[in-house]
Amino acid sequence: MLRAPETTQAAASPLVTVPPLHTGADDAVEADAEILQLDDASLVAGIGRLRRERNAVVLAHNYQIPAIQDLADFVGDSLQLAQQAATTAADVIVFCGVHFMAETAAIISPAKTVLIPDPEAGCSLAQSVTAADVRAWREAHPGAVAVAYVNTDAEVKAEVDYCCTSANAVDIVAAIPPDREILFLPDQHLGRYVGHRTGRPMHLWPGECHVHAAIGLDDVNDVVARHPDADLLLHPECGCVSEGLWRLAEHDAGPDRTFVLSTGGMVRHATSCQAAVDLVGTEVGMLHRLRQANPTTDFVPVRDDAVCSYMKTITLPKLYRTLRDVVYEVRVPEPVARRARASIERMLAIA
Ligand code: 13P
Ligand code: SF4
Repeated sequence: MLRAPETTQAAASPLVTVPPLHTGADDAVEADAEILQLDDASLVAGIGRLRRERNAVVLAHNYQIPAIQDLADFVGDSLQLAQQAATTAADVIVFCGVHFMAETAAIISPAKTVLIPDPEAGCSLAQSVTAADVRAWREAHPGAVAVAYVNTDAEVKAEVDYCCTSANAVDIVAAIPPDREILFLPDQHLGRYVGHRTGRPMHLWPGECHVHAAIGLDDVNDVVARHPDADLLLHPECGCVSEGLWRLAEHDAGPDRTFVLSTGGMVRHATSCQAAVDLVGTEVGMLHRLRQANPTTDFVPVRDDAVCSYMKTITLPKLYRTLRDVVYEVRVPEPVARRARASIERMLAIA
């Protein structure tokens, strides 16, 4: 049986709690006389008009609510959205996703106005590591190469050598010279998976996403037992991916229907897959996207309570207000942005 390579983990396991998500932006739209009298169809029409007037592009992550996905100019994974932000001709980028994604767009497109409909759209994984944590970790490992998943704040990106996303993490780590020590942060499950795929021992930061970490091996075993002939699509942030590495490794030896994929990779899989059923281990917003990509396959969530409340803070009234009032602008101070940009550009140069 193949086994995952040894990894070592930083000592402290940060505890992350998810705050109740009634935000200041919710209060603002609930007190807005114009918005209160618009129904969904009027909001969609108004968003279309304002988007043209402002020469704005609406970028949406695959976990956004269906109404936002359906009107966006582009829907994709973190890497695809960063690539869109880097190349768009629009003057304004409205980012329907979480804050670190909008920040990434602001870092790589400093001449554009980047807006997010709700600045409190956070990320439990990004909250699990700070710039001070990274500095202390690097001091304890002088000479190590630090790789940060894109689910991190700009200040953290500024402290590392490379960024990566779930779509390119294996390629980024594989490109690091074999004699170099590697610090991988903040997602321990993605880190274990990347270590397994590349054969590179890595030090892992003990962070995780509260939504994906909860998708465990028992959940997978239950749903596979109910659908034994289905394809199984798992996001590498899932707890089951690191709990079940031995199983994925065994499957390396022969044909298998388990696929560890970014959200964009799941869409590509869905467009060409022949299976009658795909089991989907990630945030449930993905199901709308997959069903649109392939209306004939039945997409079944591994856990139907895998909901990222941060992603769901973005709504039609808030998007309308963003375009109407040009709020909330996401800015990153240039000294931080310059260093963060270098780690993002090193990533984009490799993958
Ligand atoms: P992707 O890059 O695969 O879209 O993942 C982003 C994310 O936040 C997963 O929880
Ligand atoms: Fe962050 Fe998890 Fe939400 Fe993705 S699903 S944005 S990693 S909290």
